Amino acid sequence: MSPTLDLLGDLRRTHTCGQLRASDAGARARIMGWVHRRRDLGGVLFIHLRDREGVTQVVFHADVDPAVHARAEQLRSEYVVAVEGMVEPRTAETINANIPTGEVEIVAEKVWVLNESRTPPFPMEESVDVSEDARLKYRYVDLRRPRMQRNIILRSKVSFAVREFLYSQGFLEIETPFMTRSTPEGARDYLVPSRVQPGTFYALPQSPQIFKQLLMISGFEKYFQIVRCFRDEDFRADRQAEFTQIDLEMSFPQQERVFEVVEPMLQRICEVSGHSISIPFPRLTYAEAMRSYGIDKPDRRVPAMQQVNDLFEGLDLTAQGLPFMAIHIPRTGALSRKEREELKAFGGDRGLRVYDDIKRLDRDYPDAMAKVRERCGAAEEDLLLLAGWPGEPKGHRPEETVYQACGQLRLYAAQKYNDRHQLLDPKRFEFLWVVDFPMFEWDEEEQRWNAAHHPFTSVHDEDLDKLASNPARCRSKAYDVVLNGVEMGSGSIRIHRRDVQSKVFAALGFTDEEARRRFGFLLDALEYGAPPHGGIALGLDRLVMIMAGETSIRDVIPFPKTARGADLMCDAPSSVPERQLRELGITIKKA
Ligand code: AMO
Repeated sequence: MSPTLDLLGDLRRTHTCGQLRASDAGARARIMGWVHRRRDLGGVLFIHLRDREGVTQVVFHADVDPAVHARAEQLRSEYVVAVEGMVEPRTAETINANIPTGEVEIVAEKVWVLNESRTPPFPMEESVDVSEDARLKYRYVDLRRPRMQRNIILRSKVSFAVREFLYSQGFLEIETPFMTRSTPEGARDYLVPSRVQPGTFYALPQSPQIFKQLLMISGFEKYFQIVRCFRDEDFRADRQAEFTQIDLEMSFPQQERVFEVVEPMLQRICEVSGHSISIPFPRLTYAEAMRSYGIDKPDRRVPAMQQVNDLFEGLDLTAQGLPFMAIHIPRTGALSRKEREELKAFGGDRGLRVYDDIKRLDRDYPDAMAKVRERCGAAEEDLLLLAGWPGEPKGHRPEETVYQACGQLRLYAAQKYNDRHQLLDPKRFEFLWVVDFPMFEWDEEEQRWNAAHHPFTSVHDEDLDKLASNPARCRSKAYDVVLNGVEMGSGSIRIHRRDVQSKVFAALGFTDEEARRRFGFLLDALEYGAPPHGGIALGLDRLVMIMAGETSIRDVIPFPKTARGADLMCDAPSSVPERQLRELGITIKKA
């Protein structure tokens, strides 16, 4: 039977559920929260009352006040309650060392039942494994669970720390529109139909890129925004369709000036998350990152690969002119034949020939192998693999194809045997900058060059003359900040001259007309005194995910979507009434 409910009226709490300590014994307290746990011992009823700050034990004695005790007996899991009583110390044997309030309890004299609750869809205890679909459908209940409370509170603290830090550095928080036109970040746009101009659409921004550049042209000098971005791309553990960037832009910066802002900001973010890191971060060129890690977002918790062509000269272990690489994973111990075959097959699928039989190599090439070990710093119990490329060179930068395949093998082996070597410790933070990215990437499908970052990125001063003649070897002033193999942020020094912007559009194969149609307003703006400028955007969700020790950004976003882009709670996306479509001039074609 449902209890009659009490009104909040002008009742106020005196303490939170996480506040009371032994020194409060003897005081009166009134707390409010949710019934977390209930233990009925007949004449004595214990309730754990929970709010954002913690849990406090409340005890109801039938022999002290039978009416209050009877009322408390009606309480069930997740009822919303206020209680008032004396704070009393617990006896030594009933102290709960697991919670900060565990030395005391409130002996209830009054209880107000502010609301009841249906039986929750899953228990509040962390230890109970609940399917993600159930968690997302009842997200408001899931968000009450301690882990999600911790994550969302951490997210808020990180945002606050970012604002505080950037204000202290003279940045202004300025908003940019959500209903705008396409920005080229490489994903599909989400479109919003216009009712007033049927047949036309706004695009939701993939990032505020062009607007922040316009704000520099407008003379604001230092801009930032913690801003939602929208990209219609496939969902992954570290990707959502709407996600949040810490976006910033500055006038008159060199690349290093941007780093000088971002490094202490990240240090501060780590600090509020309970971690400490040192700055400055190492800087690696894209070419070095590829050579050493086979990827532009290296996970430096695992050692770099070493190129060892020079130690095996004259032998036919890799195709002429292509790299021969040593991959080194410490403390893995000996692998079984089957395990080695698996690594070999993984490499083989990516075009590599993997030399996994190290004993045999030791026998055949003892001197060279001793030098390989020395170069890698490899000990006896470490895993060592050598890999070459037996086939034809592939791609516009063929050495990169080999590095990439080896890099994948390196990460695969590191992840597969992490339980042995424990290198991928989530509490170890290895930040680094990757700089001097290539300006262009070859698009195999469309058979053309695309901007590797975006088309507003400056070309490297030394490579300006290669724009048209050798785009494959043109470097840009783009940089990424990487943490443990995850791209945390990406930015660049921008093009601020109209003539250079036109040349880059031309290299990307845009006709003048197309460039004007898509970015005419930016091209015009560049003609009105655009200062040199540059900036970066960091993925807030990804940052908080790693800071919180989570592996999915869904666990640090209050209301995320599933891998199929659905909001299971409010059932979006959904169809809309015919009338609404008519107003927008839209007809749906039945499949
Ligand atoms: P970029 O596209 O590299 O650069 O994005 C910057 C950072 O945003 C995060 N991010 C995402 N996080 C979650 N889900 C997604 N779908 C997603 N896409 C990107 C990543 C990434 O490093 N305008 C440029 C920045 C600039 O040049 O200043 C931009 O948006 O952490």
